[in-house]
Amino acid sequence: MSAGVNLDDWGPVHAVPTFHRARAGERTAPFGTRERPLPLIIDSDPGLDDALAIGLACASPEVRLLAVTTVGGNADVTRCTENALRLLHAYGRDDVPVAEGAAGALLGDVVRATEVHGVSGVGNTQLPASPNPARPEGAVALMARLLAESPEPVAIAPIGPLTNIALLLRAYPHLAPRIAHLCLMGGSIGEGNTTAAAEFNIVADPEAADVVFRSGVPITMIGLDVTHQALLDRSAARALRELGSESGRIAAELTDYALDRNLEWSGATTTAIHDAVAIAHLVVPDLVAVARYHVAVETGHGPARGRTVCDGLPYRLRRHGREPNADVGILIDRGRFERLLLDAYARLP
Ligand code: RIB
Ligand code: CA
Repeated sequence: MSAGVNLDDWGPVHAVPTFHRARAGERTAPFGTRERPLPLIIDSDPGLDDALAIGLACASPEVRLLAVTTVGGNADVTRCTENALRLLHAYGRDDVPVAEGAAGALLGDVVRATEVHGVSGVGNTQLPASPNPARPEGAVALMARLLAESPEPVAIAPIGPLTNIALLLRAYPHLAPRIAHLCLMGGSIGEGNTTAAAEFNIVADPEAADVVFRSGVPITMIGLDVTHQALLDRSAARALRELGSESGRIAAELTDYALDRNLEWSGATTTAIHDAVAIAHLVVPDLVAVARYHVAVETGHGPARGRTVCDGLPYRLRRHGREPNADVGILIDRGRFERLLLDAYARLP
């Protein structure tokens, strides 16, 4: 005991309320419905949670999955591409093209998360080989072609570093109005996960994230504040395995691998399925509560590099002449999220 305070009780420190909690408001960016499926491109670094996000999209009639593009992040981009091809094959979606994108960040060092996802990007899971090659045109060119050819604006769900999205916006600025919604997994109002300041997808390429948040495209930032509520435990992995399907086996193995890592590192008995929350927000209109924030990215090279500085305080925004530029996820119903995932995987082969 010190000064009469129980040093084990860090509650008052970590529970220091955010100076300002923006109020949950109406979402501002579109979602899909069965009657009007949302055309969707997923940009991904598969990736344990990416794999579940892609599975959820494949099983959701509310979206029409046009392509999966890959970016270096959790693992090297060549592994991410092979994982994307094999996951789509396992999910019965050989119809969805895959194209490989940037191997690393626009500037700065290459950042990987192989300690979380394994060198393969998918733990120890053996994925069945895909009969399909990746498209030779590459991620950015494929995204540009799909945006230009689509009869309606297309949603993009970036669930890895934002390098490809920044390249797309810089190389094809005239196509920005063809992006209906950038529903990205990344950032955090509060602490980071890769550093105390920054979340992995943002700190892996802060300059790219800066381009994206300045772009004016409708953005939802699905950050750690909400994804750390989207938790699965061993019972969910068991339920996935009990589906008795190849897709259920894969999802169960990936979830168990993530649970093993968390248990080893911190004794935690749950794992956050970060990327699947971005897809869930596109297929279920009221699962994720959002609030309007101005989000800016720290691109300096100090300890805060890659931080998403989120300001939702009206008088402060007015004082600095800033307008909110993103819906930011703040709350999710964990039980509904788990049921959404399990029901989706029950529809996969
Ligand atoms: O911080 C979580 C994000 O980093 C997720 O996209 C996960 O796949 C990793 O890429
Ligand atoms: Ca990811």
